[in-house]
Amino acid sequence: MITTYRAAPDIDVVSSSATIADFGSLAINAFVMHGDEPMLVDTGTVVEADEFMTALRTVIDPADLRWIWLSHTDFDHIGSLHTLLDENPQLRVITTFFGMGIMGLSSTPLPPDRVRLVNPGERVRVGNRTLRAFKPPVYDTAVTTGFYDETSRTLFSADCFGALLPDILQSAADISDTDLRDGQTLWVTIDSPWIHNVDRKLFSEHLAQVSRLDPEIVLSGHLPPAPGAMLNTLLDTLAKAPDAATFDAPDQAMLEQMLVGIATSTAG
Ligand SMILES: [Fe+2]
Ligand SMILES: [Fe+2]
Repeated sequence: MITTYRAAPDIDVVSSSATIADFGSLAINAFVMHGDEPMLVDTGTVVEADEFMTALRTVIDPADLRWIWLSHTDFDHIGSLHTLLDENPQLRVITTFFGMGIMGLSSTPLPPDRVRLVNPGERVRVGNRTLRAFKPPVYDTAVTTGFYDETSRTLFSADCFGALLPDILQSAADISDTDLRDGQTLWVTIDSPWIHNVDRKLFSEHLAQVSRLDPEIVLSGHLPPAPGAMLNTLLDTLAKAPDAATFDAPDQAMLEQMLVGIATSTAG
């Protein structure tokens, strides 16, 4: 089920969630950034594309959008991308050269004349906003690009700061410290398993750079919006993640156990 709610006076969240086995629930967020050139940040999941469009229409007329910020091309971020491009000929997609290239291998490539390439470190004007693209400290694909909106001091971090949680709330401030820390650690060891191999010093320098952005609000594709005051807590958890336990993924025996469980509950 997809819900919408307001994260800031000019930001709406279009939010779904996925339950991942016994590990918890993961928010799957897209964001509408209102303004003189409205921008949609990511486009929901492929499997819920129709529901996403219905929910989106409750917070903005898609014809009014001017930009899509595509953080990366995973199936939980590109769901309504092509529906939106088909519906609205003025829409352009902000992504990287690699993002455009990966989409070129799908059945629906991005039209190059509707792409605006932005690399980490570059700034792009989106109406009254100035967005500085950046590479989040953790990510699951080389395409990934987040941004810092210098105008509203909004930090969008793509998959970074995601957390597997018992429940999906509408503010990260309402999550208990333990649930947030454990859920964030679990997610990063699943989504960015290379975390265990990082150079600790370089990684902590990257985290310090992010801390210095001092945002008003922190957005993640997989965490309810967090007030900027929580950024250092989120970064502290990431700082410890290289030494956290590696994720033990379910194996074939566990899959067969799950299948028996599903068959039993269906028969019941
Ligand atoms: Fe991802
Ligand atoms: Fe994701």
